[in-house]
Amino acid sequence: MTTLGIETSCDDTCAAVMTGGVLQSSVTSAQAEHAEFGGVVPEVASRAHQRLIAPVVAEALDRAGAGFADLDAVAVTRGPGLSGALLVGLSYAKALALGLSAELIGVNHLEGHLASVFLEEMAEEETPQPPLLCLIASGGHTRLLLVDEADAPPQLLGRTRDDAAGEAFDKTAQLLGLSYPGGPEIGRLADEGDPAFHDFPRSRPGGSDYDFSFSGLKTAVLYHLRDVGDEEERAAYLDRHRADLCAAVQEAIVEVLADVLFEAADDVGASDLALVGGVAANRRLRAIVRERAETAGRRLFIPEMEYCTDNAAMICAAAHRRLRHDPPSSKEAPLALDVDPGLELA
Ligand code: KG4
Ligand code: ZN
Repeated sequence: MTTLGIETSCDDTCAAVMTGGVLQSSVTSAQAEHAEFGGVVPEVASRAHQRLIAPVVAEALDRAGAGFADLDAVAVTRGPGLSGALLVGLSYAKALALGLSAELIGVNHLEGHLASVFLEEMAEEETPQPPLLCLIASGGHTRLLLVDEADAPPQLLGRTRDDAAGEAFDKTAQLLGLSYPGGPEIGRLADEGDPAFHDFPRSRPGGSDYDFSFSGLKTAVLYHLRDVGDEEERAAYLDRHRADLCAAVQEAIVEVLADVLFEAADDVGASDLALVGGVAANRRLRAIVRERAETAGRRLFIPEMEYCTDNAAMICAAAHRRLRHDPPSSKEAPLALDVDPGLELA
């Protein structure tokens, strides 16, 4: 079975090809258009997806050594995400599935991130096993999920009450004069800074043990910079201490993520842990979580960097896992499939 995966939920135009559960190619075209706006502009994203979708799919097929006629299924993200952006991917996938008489499979973006830990080729017994505790940390989501049973919908243990972890990186990066997306920029600069330079808040909202809150961090950075003095003094301070501030902000974010993950792992007795989503590409977070997992004797699964941020390989992986247990009943493309910008997991 050869599947073409398509992902256009935000600002990355992505396509991938998978045959029999083995990834053949994965192409991601990050849209540079948004940098000047300091964040993703939905209309700009839709137009860029329209321009990029055909060449990105062509390149994914080319790299896989496949043609349209080889495709048995087209798997596409149908939500959550930006409605206009999702519509470009879904419309393209529908037309393709209809034209090729291929199966059309709508995939939840979060299910895709979750499936990214299954992309690495490994023996069945080495794959993540339930009870599996998974932290999705991206630009749009921060959720702690428990997969109790293989292929059953995951249970939501915790989520952010305000900003997502990636959003916290992006928004503080903007305050520090860095460009969008800020996560990778902060990660790079933090390597040269001192994480103990300033103690930014590690907020844990009351009422739930596993919820997150990152909006206070952004405010703390804003106040910290305001207290430095006038604009000129602030600019000089930032020039001198930008790397230190990046390291301190990064430490505050990754520490909370790791704390909640390991507290929950102890509470629910999860032997396997997974860290996915764009923020999982953060080197400091990967290192801290690896170290704690080793100490705690828990198996840890983190996708390779390129499969942490949005990609279509994970959409193929999610579709593949679903089809193993729920084979398609008809060869007709379900053209009634629609996007759902607020799609939930279960
Ligand atoms: O998963 P993703 O590509 O898109 C969403 O589903 O949101 O995640 C993008 C987010 C952005 O907020 C970006 O700043 C963050 O992931 N990110 C990082 C790093 N690479 C990407 N954050 C921290 N450190 C990184 N190295
Ligand atoms: Zn994502």
